[in-house]
Amino acid sequence: MPAFAATAPGKIILFGEHAVVYGRPAIAVPVTQVRARAMVIATPSAPAGQVLIDAKDIHLHATIDQLPADHPLVITIQCIRETIGLTALPACKLQITSDIPIASGLGSGAAVSTAIARAIAGFLGYPLENEEASAIAYRVDQHYHGTPSGIDNTVIVYAQPIFFIRGHPFIHLPVNQPFTVVIGNTGISSPTGAVVNDVRRGWQANPIRYEKIFDEIASIARSGREIIENGPINEMGTLLTRNHVLLQELDVSSTALDRLVETSLNAGALGAKLCGGGRGGNMIALVTSETAEHVAKAMHSAGAVHTIITTVQS
Ligand code: PMV
Repeated sequence: MPAFAATAPGKIILFGEHAVVYGRPAIAVPVTQVRARAMVIATPSAPAGQVLIDAKDIHLHATIDQLPADHPLVITIQCIRETIGLTALPACKLQITSDIPIASGLGSGAAVSTAIARAIAGFLGYPLENEEASAIAYRVDQHYHGTPSGIDNTVIVYAQPIFFIRGHPFIHLPVNQPFTVVIGNTGISSPTGAVVNDVRRGWQANPIRYEKIFDEIASIARSGREIIENGPINEMGTLLTRNHVLLQELDVSSTALDRLVETSLNAGALGAKLCGGGRGGNMIALVTSETAEHVAKAMHSAGAVHTIITTVQS
């Protein structure tokens, strides 16, 4: 196979981030407007086994053995080799691009790992199952932060709305009535691992308070599921905004996120919250098709560096 390309979408978490690490349910949906892409091209004239990485978004152009052993791309390729049962890859060039902002709660890491796993497997003619792709992306995620819940790799690999509880098979969520969300990017990069560690420290210092917050987030996620499956979708707004308040109580919000949430609500959003690890990255606002553009514009005026309007369906 001279070349093989594959992609994977971004994602947002509608309900339950952070609490999901502690066994509570969460809901995530794919965002197909943004994607990570990987292409593997055979380089038969290169030295045997040489894998050249070309990832222009992160200004990386190097062979895999020039990278440190704990580099996420080295770990990704190692996990793929182990899954496929190969000691080395044939000489090739791996091109990686992504329009998913890095470290911003849209699942960029898991999407890149998934796209690479699928491209390399396809290049080698190996029929990679979704379960295997998901396990690879999960293992790579473990290097970013020690205790990923598994929600990112699952929603990205299966590319469908999911109700997720750590350690359990995910449940596909049928969307009764498609709904529109504006995603607003603060432009502040915030690695998830650091925030997850801070939440853990808070939980260790004050388990009763944190468990109570996690329980309320869990109950919101269950109500969210009920509304997504049966409607009426407008009622999801209050749940989103309440989830944001609980995330503020976990101390994972920020001035920039709070400003975008507030602005979107003032501009007519039905509900809004930060999404993903927090402290920076993205927030989401539930809108109608009539208010979407207006809310997105208001978010830009309040400092959002980028907005995406996306419609969630089954
Ligand atoms: O990768 P992010 O920033 O979308 O965050 C993932 C959600 C967390 O609940 C904060 C962590 C996890 O592993 O579930």
